[in-house]
Amino acid sequence: MKSSLSAVWAAAFILILLPECVRGKDCVCELNNLQRPFPMEKLDSILSAADQCMKSITSTQFMEVDVLMLGVQRRLEQLEESVSVLEKEDDGGLYGAVSLRIIELELAEVLELMNKLNKTISSHKQLSQSTATKLQSMTEGVQEIESFDLSHVVSKQRENQRIKRDLAECQNELRATHQPPTARPRRCPQGQLINVTGPRTYALTSYGTSYPYGAWGKDPKPAPGKEDTYWLVALTTSNAFANYVRHYSSLSTILVGVGPVDTIIAPANPTTNTIVGPNVVQYGGALYYNCYNSPSVCRFNISTRSVTNTQLPKNSGFNNKFPFGHLDAAYIYTDLDFATDESGVWVVYSSTENFGNVILSEVIEGSPPSLGRTWNTSLHKRTVTNTFMVCGVLYATRFLDKQTEEIFYSFDTETGEERYDLKIRIQKMQTNIQSLNYNPQDQMLYAYSDAYIVSYSTVFQ
Ligand SMILES: *[C@@H]1O[C@H](CO)[C@@H](O)[C@H](O)[C@H]1NC(C)=O
Ligand SMILES: *[C@@H]1O[C@H](CO)[C@@H](O)[C@H](O)[C@H]1NC(C)=O
Ligand SMILES: *[C@@H]1O[C@H](CO)[C@@H](O)[C@H](O)[C@H]1NC(C)=O
Ligand SMILES: *[C@@H]1O[C@H](CO)[C@@H](O)[C@H](O)[C@H]1NC(C)=O
Repeated sequence: MKSSLSAVWAAAFILILLPECVRGKDCVCELNNLQRPFPMEKLDSILSAADQCMKSITSTQFMEVDVLMLGVQRRLEQLEESVSVLEKEDDGGLYGAVSLRIIELELAEVLELMNKLNKTISSHKQLSQSTATKLQSMTEGVQEIESFDLSHVVSKQRENQRIKRDLAECQNELRATHQPPTARPRRCPQGQLINVTGPRTYALTSYGTSYPYGAWGKDPKPAPGKEDTYWLVALTTSNAFANYVRHYSSLSTILVGVGPVDTIIAPANPTTNTIVGPNVVQYGGALYYNCYNSPSVCRFNISTRSVTNTQLPKNSGFNNKFPFGHLDAAYIYTDLDFATDESGVWVVYSSTENFGNVILSEVIEGSPPSLGRTWNTSLHKRTVTNTFMVCGVLYATRFLDKQTEEIFYSFDTETGEERYDLKIRIQKMQTNIQSLNYNPQDQMLYAYSDAYIVSYSTVFQ
């Protein structure tokens, strides 16, 4: 009896039972605990300290530093590039002065970025110092509590877990060496974008060369009966504003420019809720664009001709604050860039809080539209000529020369991975691309390039 009891209670107590029974009297048992009492309070306080630690350190804080670091690194590279361009091309005149001013602005932004990085890092340093102290005291506390584990239940369990983990690692390594490395499976069946070929089509619009800024494409989620329809928006005032969208019944009619149907957003151009900037898209029978004179997303219901809108976060750029561009040119009123992919509509923009770097938000359909998830990137918007989305991945292009644009950057919304080493070339017919968008339905890229409408095929792995 005594031995089986002590086996059960050995972890914390040793019991000594002393029966004192006398006939006709009550039976009394004396219980002696030879061990120190178990420090329940201590365990509780360690648990709550651990909980607090978990709350104060989140992975997003570390991602923030990564993004800032990558941003500073890229901006320094860009600065170096700009300086070498200045050295090569400085004619002592206007061009040199403009380049110098751009370099000054870049330098100021880099310094600001470094400051922010410094602040973030020192706040994380304090955090990790105080966390380390807490961790040390938690470790000591747990060791003390463990001394109550006389039959070594916990340490044996830990040993078991370690062996199991080693085993699993071993099995994984075995499996990994048996299979060739494969790309991570994606929700999108077509795989990764590896090339762009074409142009497949190249034509002037019915406006001729009048309007160098605009956009065109095909609605990826067309209304019934509108499956073959193509849309076209030309910025008909000041290369900046438009107040109507044009539709053509087929690819051939838009390429030769016959039989357009115009749908008017407002009788004046520009006015409240008309279009500003070229990076417009049509999705689900609605046009998405930057509302005139406002950091907002406008949605124009083409069948009812009604506009609803939603504000971007405060301090988001509009009216040429954070346009696309390259060293000696900015694409005017390109603060907001809309994109369509397999999952719907997206908006690319920037804000002072993110130092002019690209921010990406989902646009939720609906009237009014609203913003869904949002990501900050380290990609400086002004050094990018355009962006588009494929399968939840943001791609950005830059100007290489008059004949070539390069897709050099990607940001995967699923993994948060940023890459600056893509080298997918786009063959241009004109010098500049004012808008570029992907249609997930026909997997084509639609570009508006110095008054020409151009399309490309995409190649997936
Ligand atoms: C970073 O911040 C610390 C104090 O916050 C300051 O002493 C230091 O000079 C800063 N370093 C840079 C490079 O700005
Ligand atoms: C991409 O397409 C171009 C044009 O068809 C071709 O010349 C080039 O070799 C392709 N690149 C790759 C990596 O497949
Ligand atoms: C346009 O508005 C009509 C009437 O409210 C609605 O039935 C239709 O779904 C809307 N279309 C889009 C694309 O929002
Ligand atoms: C993006 O950065 C801004 C400014 O640092 C911050 O306020 C915001 O929470 C960040 N957003 C995301 C989704 O990380």
